[in-house]
Amino acid sequence: MSRHPALRHHRIIDGELHLGGHPVRHWVAQHGTPLYLYDGRLITERVAALRSALPDGISLHYAVKANPMPELVKLLATLVDGMDVASADELERALATGLADTDISFAGPGKRDEELVLALQSGVLLVVESEGELGRLLRIADQLGKTPPIALRINPAFRLRASGMHMGGGPSPFGIDEERIPTLLREIATLPVDLMGFHVFAGSQNLSAEYLIAAQTAIFERIQRLLPDFPGELRWLNIGGGLGIPYFPGERPLELAPLAEALATHQEMLRRLAPNCELVMELGRYLVGEAGVYVARIVDRKQSRGKVYLVTDGGMHQHLAASGNLGQVLRRNYPVIAPEYMDRPAEEKVTIVGPLCTPLDVLATDIEMPRLQVGDLVAVLQSGAYGYSASPLGFLGHPPPVERLL
Ligand SMILES: Cc1ncc(COP(=O)(O)O)c(C=O)c1O
Repeated sequence: MSRHPALRHHRIIDGELHLGGHPVRHWVAQHGTPLYLYDGRLITERVAALRSALPDGISLHYAVKANPMPELVKLLATLVDGMDVASADELERALATGLADTDISFAGPGKRDEELVLALQSGVLLVVESEGELGRLLRIADQLGKTPPIALRINPAFRLRASGMHMGGGPSPFGIDEERIPTLLREIATLPVDLMGFHVFAGSQNLSAEYLIAAQTAIFERIQRLLPDFPGELRWLNIGGGLGIPYFPGERPLELAPLAEALATHQEMLRRLAPNCELVMELGRYLVGEAGVYVARIVDRKQSRGKVYLVTDGGMHQHLAASGNLGQVLRRNYPVIAPEYMDRPAEEKVTIVGPLCTPLDVLATDIEMPRLQVGDLVAVLQSGAYGYSASPLGFLGHPPPVERLL
């Protein structure tokens, strides 16, 4: 079995994958299957490695949407400088960690009135996604007697190339078109809001330092152009992130050094233009994705017209992304391994599926595995982000998997 780059972080002892100091088997004995395991050591090391690679003075925010499990969010709160939330529920999870309200930003389209009320009462930074939302916010803030701290999310005219997901470069429900921003800034100068700065999120799951640098350069150019129209002092600039992790065959981990070098130059420029501006990067999967493993047990082994199927108790209802149904155009396999038999050679090609009555319920297609039997475990690596919470857990009524932070 060729080793997936994700395994560079994990410990393999006596042929078994270990997380949290024990073999996966140990956790399965405690919690059963299916099971999401998140290794806190890996998350802590990841944030430390990123901080040491990036220039000093960049605030790292955790995008709670990547994995909102409360214990994991609590751990992250001790490691990062702030959090980005996208719903009232995520906001409550972030506030429950004891993080300062001023270190939380609330972005995302379609914030409901109740969510705006909660955000205003908590004092978090509201990232405004449209002029309509700004109007609603002003009305509610007036009723509550508050002056809301806000940032404008810019929908940039450029595209972050080679991203798993693009969020810019065309019409978009996210943010305000950059052409509109100068006029809006002049209007905002007369409104009862505390405009702190800007947010730009151009895309996610990008493994190319070159493209990420190009996007960041384009962001800083825009900010420079917008500054003359900015009322007051720019105090907050969130340049998004988009740092990816390797999922599929042939993908390599992102190189941080060139990204850090380019960021240092941009940071220097920003310091000259807006000396009191906090520079924020907002990351989800890069911080937690590699630390998570989804474990399922084989409940049936069958052959159909020459093909071997391993049918497990887990599947797309619990790990939509691994099934390829969360935005993949052509389905590719997440790294799937046999955690109990890491030293055994590949012996056969198998397709691993879940218990749902749909051909979409696939965890791996035609992968090389040791010969596995009913009762053996399979594990999907790179499952710490957009797993449990991004899956249709109610579909077909199977019990939800246990999640455990180790
Ligand atoms: C506004 C915003 N911030 C952060 C993220 C997190 O992206 P990732 O988990 O890839 O870092 C996303 C992802 O969609 C997003 O839309």
